Amino acid sequence: MSTTSLLDATRQVAPDMIEQLLTSTSLIRLDGSNGQRRNKLRAGVVGLGKQAMEDHIPGLRGSDGAELVAICDESAELIHEYQYQLKVPGYTDFREMFRQEQLDLVIVTVPHHVGRAVIETATEARVHVLKEKPFATSMSEARELAQRCDETGVQLMVTLQRRFNPIYTSFMQLADQIGTPFVVDGQYTLHVEDPSDGWRGQTAMAGGGCIIDMGYHLVDMILWYFGLPDRILCDLSVSARPDRSYDAEDTALIHFGYDSGLYGSLLLSRFIGPKTEQIRLVGSKGVVHLERGRLRRLTNGGEVIESLSREQAWPSAAASQIDYFCRVIEGLRPNVSSPQENLAHMSFIAACYESAKTHSYINPKEMN
Ligand SMILES: NC(=O)c1ccc[n+]([C@@H]2O[C@H](COP(=O)([O-])OP(=O)(O)OC[C@H]3O[C@@H](n4cnc5c(N)ncnc54)[C@H](O)[C@@H]3O)[C@@H](O)[C@H]2O)c1
Repeated sequence: MSTTSLLDATRQVAPDMIEQLLTSTSLIRLDGSNGQRRNKLRAGVVGLGKQAMEDHIPGLRGSDGAELVAICDESAELIHEYQYQLKVPGYTDFREMFRQEQLDLVIVTVPHHVGRAVIETATEARVHVLKEKPFATSMSEARELAQRCDETGVQLMVTLQRRFNPIYTSFMQLADQIGTPFVVDGQYTLHVEDPSDGWRGQTAMAGGGCIIDMGYHLVDMILWYFGLPDRILCDLSVSARPDRSYDAEDTALIHFGYDSGLYGSLLLSRFIGPKTEQIRLVGSKGVVHLERGRLRRLTNGGEVIESLSREQAWPSAAASQIDYFCRVIEGLRPNVSSPQENLAHMSFIAACYESAKTHSYINPKEMN
């Protein structure tokens, strides 16, 4: 299994780009149609919680590629309310939804332990899947689901919305200008009053805590920019609220290193506020600093050389992700977050949990 990092990719960008320009049918067209189809793909959504209602349902409304035709949630109360509001048929059983509806794709926004059954049913029905992160709750589940998608020809893309945001896609262009990078540190922290609350507090349901949940995004950045590390050391805690009972980690500190010499750390927490997200890459000739909505290149002394910021019209990232997935389904774009790609995320995460358990360095490439 291999992950193509941006560092690897930039080395061969020229031949790849020329090939793409010669063969792609998906670049901007002179007839103004820009590859848009006449009929929208038919989308269902399973799991009408926070993420579906705040991102994907508004995203579908703004999408050129797909339209919402059915919804599902196990809560009859939610279905009653939303089928009236959204004017589409609602189901409390996703199997019934797949039986009744002719879907092209399904957006899966359920608690992590429910994801597997929904994906399995979708692949049986040959319906493509946009899966909210994480891909799976464990390495073995991830492998089995990847095999199932391969065998059925179903496209599955894990939602990693930062890959559709120019602030994040510009990171490596600035990184190329800071000499040899040698250290990277990342942080993604926020405050949840009660880490034991709901399915997120229990490893049996969530697959883990802040690493597999919110940390998945930062893990994705590290893999995307630098590839899978050669060693990982992780410490974690489930003790931020000793008065509550939960076993999914509230905080984790991860050290990772590459044989090339680059090394770094990630601090993840769902107990340390205020909400902070950043990655800082330090090289021999400068620093690249990425925060939510802002990317800067600085001197090693801290003076700003250049800065890029983005005011994002909500929910444009969700809509562009859905549109991109429609193009993947139609064979016009590569699947940038496929099951195979996400096996790397899952092995990074599995290595973190194994390291925390054994108090030793783990090579994530051996978690396969
Ligand atoms: N990409 C992001 O930035 C981001 C942000 C938040 C959450 N997420 C992800 O989105 C997913 C959902 O998270 P959330 O915060 O919306 O959770 P949530 O608990 O708010 O919503 C989950 C919904 O799924 C429903 N559900 C549970 N079991 C079901 C079943 N068997 N069939 C149908 N519906 C069922 C619940 O009733 C609930 O309405 C998770 O995978 C989470 O990691 C991603």
